Amino acid sequence: MARKVSPKEPSNAATDDPAAAYRALVEEIAEHDRRYHAEDAPTISDGDYDALRRKLVAIEAGHPEFVDDASPSKRVGAKPSERFSKVRHRVGMLSLGNIFADEEVEEFCTRVRRFLGLKTEDPLAITAEPKIDGLSCSLRYVDGVLVQAATRGDGQEGEDVTANIRTIAEIPHRLRGEAPGVLDIRGEVYMTKEGFAGVNARQAESGKPLFANPRNSAAGSLRQLDPAITASRPLRFFAYAWGEADHPPADTQTGMVEAFRRFGLPVNPETVLCRSAEELLAQYRRIEAERAALPYDIDGVVYKVNAVVLQARLGFVSRTPRWATAHKFPAERATTVLRRIEVQVGRTGTLTPVARLDPVTVGGVVVTNATLHNEDEIRRKDAREGDTVRLQRAGDVIPQIVEVLVEKRPAESKEYAFPTVCPACGSPAEREIDEKTGRQDVRRRCTAGLVCPAQAIERLKHFCARDALDIEGLGDRQIEQFYHEGLVMTPADIFTLRERDRRSLKKLKDREGYGDTSVRNLFASIDERRSPPVDKLLYSLGIRHVGRTNSKRLGRRYGTFEAIRAMAITAGARTAGGDTAEAAEAKAEMENIEGMGSAAVDQLVAFFAEANNNAVVDALLAEVTPVAMEAVVSTSPVSGKTVVFTGTLEKMTRDEAKAQAERLGAKVSGAVSRATDIVIAGVKAGSKLKKAAELGVETLSEDEWLARVGGATPEEVDEPDSDPGDDARE
Ligand code: IVH
Repeated sequence: MARKVSPKEPSNAATDDPAAAYRALVEEIAEHDRRYHAEDAPTISDGDYDALRRKLVAIEAGHPEFVDDASPSKRVGAKPSERFSKVRHRVGMLSLGNIFADEEVEEFCTRVRRFLGLKTEDPLAITAEPKIDGLSCSLRYVDGVLVQAATRGDGQEGEDVTANIRTIAEIPHRLRGEAPGVLDIRGEVYMTKEGFAGVNARQAESGKPLFANPRNSAAGSLRQLDPAITASRPLRFFAYAWGEADHPPADTQTGMVEAFRRFGLPVNPETVLCRSAEELLAQYRRIEAERAALPYDIDGVVYKVNAVVLQARLGFVSRTPRWATAHKFPAERATTVLRRIEVQVGRTGTLTPVARLDPVTVGGVVVTNATLHNEDEIRRKDAREGDTVRLQRAGDVIPQIVEVLVEKRPAESKEYAFPTVCPACGSPAEREIDEKTGRQDVRRRCTAGLVCPAQAIERLKHFCARDALDIEGLGDRQIEQFYHEGLVMTPADIFTLRERDRRSLKKLKDREGYGDTSVRNLFASIDERRSPPVDKLLYSLGIRHVGRTNSKRLGRRYGTFEAIRAMAITAGARTAGGDTAEAAEAKAEMENIEGMGSAAVDQLVAFFAEANNNAVVDALLAEVTPVAMEAVVSTSPVSGKTVVFTGTLEKMTRDEAKAQAERLGAKVSGAVSRATDIVIAGVKAGSKLKKAAELGVETLSEDEWLARVGGATPEEVDEPDSDPGDDARE
């Protein structure tokens, strides 16, 4: 961003008093920073600004006693546009499944035992520890030295917060003792309740907005572009897990955490090793009773199978481990009045009812909206405008209405009628019928597609959003404004904006709220996005079920955008008699991409079957050039293979073996035939092994099989089989 040249010269802050001159200079720089960063309206040139900073550094060199933490020289001159760079986690950062009821603790233990094939009398050690309410981070130590730190992000890719993490006093820059060559420490960055109160007091003093709770405050403090701000906030850390680790220092959860402690990392002192569901529950009760007295916020207790080998055998389902779970504390509740029910129209046309509430505090956060999910839910609860309702809020999620207090209902109250036409465009809003089950979808959708302004606007917002094309300067408000004025109706219009503005008499820069600089910045950030990676471009189109993960899968499989589109069009080709063989094959091929699922393929095919959508995409492709990805046909050595397990397996149970093979994209069958690719023969394998030999099918011992699939990287194994990010903006 260039700084606008000021009509007035930068002041010369020299007086006879060097301390006063220094203070004046600090103030002057702070004021330019504010104009530049907060207002996007600098009043001096970059060169003049740099001269001021050089002068500051010169004074500081001569008078170190003047320097304090607030000095602009302590700040890295990060522009707000320079966002954090991305870090790919070598081993995915997963989240935990939740349980709430006491009985579920027993169920968790039983599930683990069943999966491992343990008998009731076999011992099974599980740890119980507090679930810290902060944000998880991965700290990478190489030869004992902290080299990188990243936030969790979407679990596969996080933000590089190394400089900020380095400001946290209790995180060692070098591990003590004999640390492994590579060790990713996973843990929680948090703020104590006291630290949070202090931060908010300072925010209030300086007239800045307050943080809602310690977790938000910790997140806001860590994700600062300026590490000096992070340094001024009382952030803390607990290490509780690990990612990539060569030569792991221990073979149990407790042993690993003990090793972390020896390395000089802070670990939570409340962790206890338990031998039964009863002991776990007793620890849950103890920790719950101590919750209020603990210096930091917790929202539950985490249980983890102690033996690392068993953790590995249990593996993951989707994005959550089978070997651990979070036993959450009951959600906090409050009562308030539901004033209005508003219906919002999402990117794919879904009508979502939102309850507008009288403000009320639940668990330390002021709540004014709650989700009502869908029309069936409203009917089931008989929620009406004017009702008094009980709310609950658990962790980060949007508050929910638990029940309606019917006894407080006003006499004139009327049952709520859910709209059957789209509130944005008046077109019919319908509930789809699931072809397979014959059941009505819970969601009602506007049928107008992109003709509906609400859908078109939401799609444009999605297109420009951070996790999509990430076009800075085109925020929700601008998109709405540009859409209503007819300036930007489809994604391609964004990229022709500059050229049209050049020819137009009504220039963007002459509008209220705009200026030379902001318009120039907007055009620059649009230009920066003219070569998006294939997966980003696909994701940004906002096709249902084609979220970030599925877009990556498609990009990785087919390489170019046109190849993906061609596959989808082939798969959608129909003859009068039904699907052509080629279409069926194309569809099956896409469905066989590990983790894809048929719903996403159906939506992709449906999208490219529409002439309208293709026209929108063609126009867009005339403006942007997607960058191809490296196409990888198969991500695992056994993907697409049909395998049969026979005999007694010794390293894993049948269920485990099956789950693992399927995770790697293999099809597990019970019988050997010509279609079988591999037979894995355990101890005492009999007729199936014989048959395999007769048919010339490859046979592997259990160890040979493990060696073969062991070649798959953990990331491939961890790849989730659903895509919760999809429709997330709805
Ligand atoms: S273990 C594979 N232990 O909870 C599981 N997580 O919902 C690795 N969290 O993203 C996580 N306290 O941010 C673990 N003692 C604890 C935790 C904990 C808080 C958070 C963490 C994670 C989330 C999972």
